[in-house]
Amino acid sequence: MVFDSLIEKYFPAGSKSYHIYIEHVSAVARTVSELCRRNRHLNIDEDLAVKGAMLHDLGICMVDAPKIECFGFMPYIQHGIIGRLILEDEGLPEYALFCERHIGTGMYIEDIIANKMPLPVKDMYPLTMEEKVVAYADKFFSKSKGKLSEPKDIEEIKKGIASYGARGTVIFSEWEKLFGVNIQPEL
Ligand SMILES: [Fe+2]
Repeated sequence: MVFDSLIEKYFPAGSKSYHIYIEHVSAVARTVSELCRRNRHLNIDEDLAVKGAMLHDLGICMVDAPKIECFGFMPYIQHGIIGRLILEDEGLPEYALFCERHIGTGMYIEDIIANKMPLPVKDMYPLTMEEKVVAYADKFFSKSKGKLSEPKDIEEIKKGIASYGARGTVIFSEWEKLFGVNIQPEL
């Protein structure tokens, strides 16, 4: 598998966190690949997007999220910015922004300030088509045990997004129109 040794550096092979990580990012990567195949007219760089999908959640290795077997000390919401730092440090800056820009439907300065989020005060939302397809595919998969490869119901996703405000609903519906909604389990 691509990036095997890098992933094993942050999630020890055989550990529960490793299995959760691999199953989640593989489901996202398969979905990204399928969405690229179905939407050739968008000219998405599939290789870049799939690799970005495999690395987008690397930052969870340092967060405090025992439910997904991550026993770091950083707040979960910071896993995007942590992933960016790790990948830049690893000499892989071309994938770093997949981490930073995939949280929810993206993070916006106004919302970070208004909600006093523990994040840098700057916009961090997907800009390229590759970043958008990774963030979109990611919304279909939770990291809860037992449901890692099973796509969520789209209404459930929308409900979750709407609970954070209207902006996310608008962005998600743009992505729906762009990429399509028929996400199949076990692609
Ligand atoms: Fe993810």
